[in-house]
This record gives sequence, structure tokens and C-alpha cells, in this order.
Amino acid sequence: MIQATGVRKKYGDLEVLKGVDLNVAKGEVVSIVGASGAGKTTLLQIIGTLDNADSGTLVIGGKDISALRSNALSAFRNKHIGFVFQFHHLLPEFTALENVMMPGLIAGQSRNNCVPRAEELLSRLNVIARKEHKPGQLSGGEQQRVAVARALFNNPDVVLADEPSGNLDSAHAKELHQLFFELRKEIGQTFVIVTHNEELADMADRKLVMKDGVI
Ligand SMILES: Nc1ncnc2c1ncn2[C@@H]1O[C@H](COP(=O)(O)OP(=O)(O)O)[C@@H](O)[C@H]1O
Ligand SMILES: [Mg+2]
Repeated sequence: MIQATGVRKKYGDLEVLKGVDLNVAKGEVVSIVGASGAGKTTLLQIIGTLDNADSGTLVIGGKDISALRSNALSAFRNKHIGFVFQFHHLLPEFTALENVMMPGLIAGQSRNNCVPRAEELLSRLNVIARKEHKPGQLSGGEQQRVAVARALFNNPDVVLADEPSGNLDSAHAKELHQLFFELRKEIGQTFVIVTHNEELADMADRKLVMKDGVI
């Protein structure tokens, strides 16, 4: 599902990624651990096409994305990649339901078309009762489940999660982690998860360690 080869990235003189190779199969849950500053977020942003590598190749779902430019890249990202961040990044002025359907609206679908899918996801993630609430009215765990629903909206090839439980207490962190594995089982969802949470990292099919700019 993901083939990244020889990914390099420098910020000024700082070589953050020194030739990272990463292959992730469909339905696989891969965790990435490593010290703060090791380059985990940088790598995830490059895989997620939010940032460019200086060199290397990236193929997602069979598509070589290095050939894509601006508009095509945004469209590709919207359709094929879901993101879950440490701080949910939900839009504060929109309801949970609207936040979940945002990737569909951005892709040009009508609101009426998006509502059933958004409701189905909120039900699946046990937050349907909160659909008309805005993010500020939700608990941290609920916000993160809404963020996961949003990430799944367009049936992405892969969900990239950067410290998804970093802001949750241990009970809610555990619930969120279990959810990832249920989604893998139910819909074959592929996940790449950067985490400091040892328990989550160890639950993954593969735990990768980033150190000195490589995996
Ligand atoms: N936009 C940027 N400009 C300059 N340096 C950056 C930028 N983003 C990250 N860095 C640096 O790159 C290194 C890796 O950062 P990051 O990928 O966020 O690490 P991690 O997520 O593993 O903690 C750090 O030293 C960080 O300060
Ligand atoms: Mg980081």
C-alpha cells in the first residue's frame, strides 16, 4: 500500500531523514517509535504528501506521487490519505457531523450525499449522540473518535496517525487503540501510527524504530 524508498529530508544543515525505506502492506498496522526530534512527524508528513522529500520515491496504492503537482496532489491526498493528529484539528465552528463529512464536501460531494456516510461512521465510533455538538463541547476521547471518523470518510488507502493518543488519559487511549485494530479487522484499514505509547506500539504488526535519520 505504501512504498517509500530512500527518503531524504534536510532542514538547513540538519539532516532529519537520511534515506528512509518503508513498505506497508494493505491491512497492516505499523507503529513508528523513536526519541523526540528523531524525524517521525517529518516522515509522516512526507508519506502523507503534506511535505516534500528532498529525494527518494513514494508510491501509495500503486500511484507514484512524486509525479503529481499541487492540485492533483491535494485531490490525491483528500481521497487516499486520512490523518489523525495528537490535537484533533477539528474545525471548531462546525459540528461533529460536519467535521466528519468535510473530506466529502472538499471532494465536491453534496451535503445530502455526505450525511448518511458521516452518520454511519459516527455510529460505528459510538459518538452519534454527539453529532450536533461542536468540538469544544466534546471530551478529548470523543474529539479523537470524531477525528478518526473524518479520517475514514473517503475510504482512504491509509490512515496516518501522529501521536493520536498523546493527549488522552490511559483509559481513553486504550479505547482509541482498540478501535484502530477493530477497524483493521472489519474493513482492512491500513494504519501507520507514530506513538510514544509502548502498549500501542507493541500491539502493531510491526514496530519500527526511527534513529539517526533511518528506520
Ligand atoms: N519546518 C521545520 N524547519 C526546521 N526544522 C524542523 C522543521 N520541522 C522539523 N524540524 C526539525 O527536524 C527534527 C525532526 O522533527 P520531527 O519530525 O518533528 O521529530 P519527531 O516527530 O520525531 O519528534 C527536529 O530537530 C525538528 O526541530
Ligand atoms: Mg512528532
